[in-house]
Amino acid sequence: MNIILLGPPGAGKGTQSARLVEKYGMRQLSTGDMLRAAVKAQTPVGMKAKAVMDRGELVSDEIVSELIDAELAAMSAETGAIFDGYPRTEAQAESLDSLLAKHGRNLDHVIELAVNEDALVERITGRFTCVNCGTGYHDKFAQPKVEGVCDNCGSTEFKRRPDDNEETVRTRMAEYRAKTAPILPVYESRGIVSRVDGMAGIDEVTAGLGNLLG
Ligand code: AP5
Ligand code: MG
Repeated sequence: MNIILLGPPGAGKGTQSARLVEKYGMRQLSTGDMLRAAVKAQTPVGMKAKAVMDRGELVSDEIVSELIDAELAAMSAETGAIFDGYPRTEAQAESLDSLLAKHGRNLDHVIELAVNEDALVERITGRFTCVNCGTGYHDKFAQPKVEGVCDNCGSTEFKRRPDDNEETVRTRMAEYRAKTAPILPVYESRGIVSRVDGMAGIDEVTAGLGNLLG
């Protein structure tokens, strides 16, 4: 199974991807995570991407499509893919079609996490992750069971993303509206788009995805 999770910043793509990985043994392909890893490792791609990401704008289509190509090439054809944060432009959607064909895969579902934009700034500015294992949390909506201790690995170190401030979030939302939302009709015309209410609680959204994916 190959699916795209589509939705604006803070819609819950990363949160739900982690759950689908656990439930179905799929692989999460998040271009945002790949780019952040490249920034951290100070690779040429990371050096190019850092300032663009800090502004909340989109990095080039070529860079992200190459990252996805490399990941698909390294994956077993049996393992399903969750595309999280990719494609984000019409050009990327076209590249994804070519990459799926190249790697012998079909696109089964495009799932839009439908959210009310007003809630997203609060979701994003409250987000933090474990430095050690990457588990995601939120100050209000997804607190660790013991304050200051990661549920998954016991680490006490957490970090916040440099682009998770209100000003950058507004730019990221504007980019989504202008460049990403217009790719939905392409997939709608193929009859593979479903919508899940992303404003529901985290567990309810997971249940909605489960109903859809079986
Ligand atoms: P990326 O990392 O993809 O960020 P994004 O799309 O802005 O999405 P987020 O990761 O912010 O949100 P999410 O939907 O994953 O939400 P989450 O589950 O964490 O991209 C970052 C940057 O990289 C871009 O700006 C761009 O520069 C570059 N980039 C990446 N891909 C690119 C591409 N393809 N092309 C060009 N440039 C690219 O949830 C958020 C918070 O809310 C969490 O704390 C969570 O606990 C909480 N939460 C989640 N669901 C719920 C719920 N149902 N109720 C309450 N709280 C919830
Ligand atoms: Mg994410």
